Amino acid sequence: MKVIVLNDALEISKDAAEIIINQVNKKKDSVIGFATGASPVETYKRIIEAYERGDVSLKHITTFNLDEYVGLNRENVNSYFWFMKDNLFGKTDVDFDRVNFLSGLAEDTEAECERYSKRIRECGGIDLQILGIGTNGHIGFNEPGEKFADGPFAVKLTQSTIDSNKKYFEAVGDTMPEYALTMGIGDIMRAKKIILIATGASKAKAVKALVEGEVTAECPASILKLHSDVTVFLDNDSAALLGERK
Ligand code: F6R
Repeated sequence: MKVIVLNDALEISKDAAEIIINQVNKKKDSVIGFATGASPVETYKRIIEAYERGDVSLKHITTFNLDEYVGLNRENVNSYFWFMKDNLFGKTDVDFDRVNFLSGLAEDTEAECERYSKRIRECGGIDLQILGIGTNGHIGFNEPGEKFADGPFAVKLTQSTIDSNKKYFEAVGDTMPEYALTMGIGDIMRAKKIILIATGASKAKAVKALVEGEVTAECPASILKLHSDVTVFLDNDSAALLGERK
């Protein structure tokens, strides 16, 4: 695992965007796994800027997002589909026919998860997966628990995740859903390349468990240590609890 500590989110966004842009320029039809949330927003801005300069086209990429809230339709401003449309896809030439999402409205969540899993396989797997990390060490919505999940599944969100994200729902007078559909750890680990972005002091404990702790389902992100191509981008605050690094 390569750990890169930079000064702030802006510096991280430049380096992280460069990796994504290089991936797409090297393989126009790359399969990219996207994350939502605050962590990748600056990076997505750098990609939009590169697109506007004509330095990259996302027209031929296929996308898979990590997760979606149960019960939200795509027009809901707090759905992750809307987030991606608003923060990246709708501001570039992403082809919406190649955008894949778990459906928060699926009645049969098991069948929906199976469909998504099959779709990832049909597309040849994920070339590059972008991740954030929860304050409790989750990746995607793989919450701390007793074992690592392989494929996509329906998850009851922990109080920690609800406490971190409920502000977005409260801002529009809604209540945050308690359930989500998420890619499993297996789906994430099968990605050929992974980048994880963590900023801010609230992530420091989870980052320490990720970088220095043992591999345990109690910190789902810790499994990334077993992947051969992971780059972790940290700012000084999220890296604050790490020991001396060579
Ligand atoms: C989002 C996702 C989550 C977030 C994590 C960090 O699609 O899967 O794992 O990456 O909760 O969220 P932020 O970036 O908002 O701190």
